[in-house]
Amino acid sequence: MRTTVADVQKMKRNGERIPMLTVYDCSSTLIAERAGVPLLLVGDSLGMVMLGYDTTLPVTVTDMERHAAAVMRVSKQALVVADLPFLSYATVDDAISSARRLMQNAGVQAVKLEGGASIVPQVRRLTECGVPVMGHLGLTPQSQHQIGLKVQARGAAEATRLLEDALALEAAGAFALVLEVVPAPLAEAVSRRLRIPVIGIGAGAGCDGQVQVWHDILGLFEGRPPRHAGQYAAIGAAMEDAVRTYATDVRNGAFPTEKHSAQMEAAELTAALAAVTSSNEA
Ligand code: KIV
Repeated sequence: MRTTVADVQKMKRNGERIPMLTVYDCSSTLIAERAGVPLLLVGDSLGMVMLGYDTTLPVTVTDMERHAAAVMRVSKQALVVADLPFLSYATVDDAISSARRLMQNAGVQAVKLEGGASIVPQVRRLTECGVPVMGHLGLTPQSQHQIGLKVQARGAAEATRLLEDALALEAAGAFALVLEVVPAPLAEAVSRRLRIPVIGIGAGAGCDGQVQVWHDILGLFEGRPPRHAGQYAAIGAAMEDAVRTYATDVRNGAFPTEKHSAQMEAAELTAALAAVTSSNEA
């Protein structure tokens, strides 16, 4: 049975913390679902971790659709949310057309939009049309050239605006909200004030759930992970070791062995070689 919006909202009412994780393709989805993650995000972070861009800004609806479709080909259990990418929901009509591609073509169950009061008309209309919408406030990477990649809403005025935006998104019909890189006490207060689940990333332990990026929790990239990343494995290093050993084995002839190879009767090969020789001579 697939997790539903109602299930996620019930988890908040029951005080169950909600794990959410990004996935971008079929293998990550199969693993995340086997591990029992109920809420998956096809994040536009795929721009950086899958497509090699520096930011999420170049990501298109076509990129999101292709990755979301790969996820949905194998997903059976989780509630799958996909990001509407930069400038794909500037107007209500844009939002509907982008959500249509992700829900009808790729098959996700919900979409996520970054922004507060200014995108309330989009959130309201999508919700009226039957599209479950997840909000996203705080450090919204699609606006990084306006707001910077730093902790948001540290001061009273900004914190007030964030709470007002959160309440406006809830009133417009958002079923849940991501809060990214805001002070933990503010995130906890917002989580208490809202009826809908608040999923934090870099927002402390007082949120109703947490979301992390696949590559961060698995340690897939070398270098300095974001401060808010929880690293649960060093898969990048393990993969590098495996690939190095494979390349060495090919170079020194240790791979493949007999068990990796198919065999045939010697007489069949002799006959095949003889047939080619005689046809060449004729
Ligand atoms: O795109 C993404 O991965 C996200 C999460 C960081 C919340 O939006």
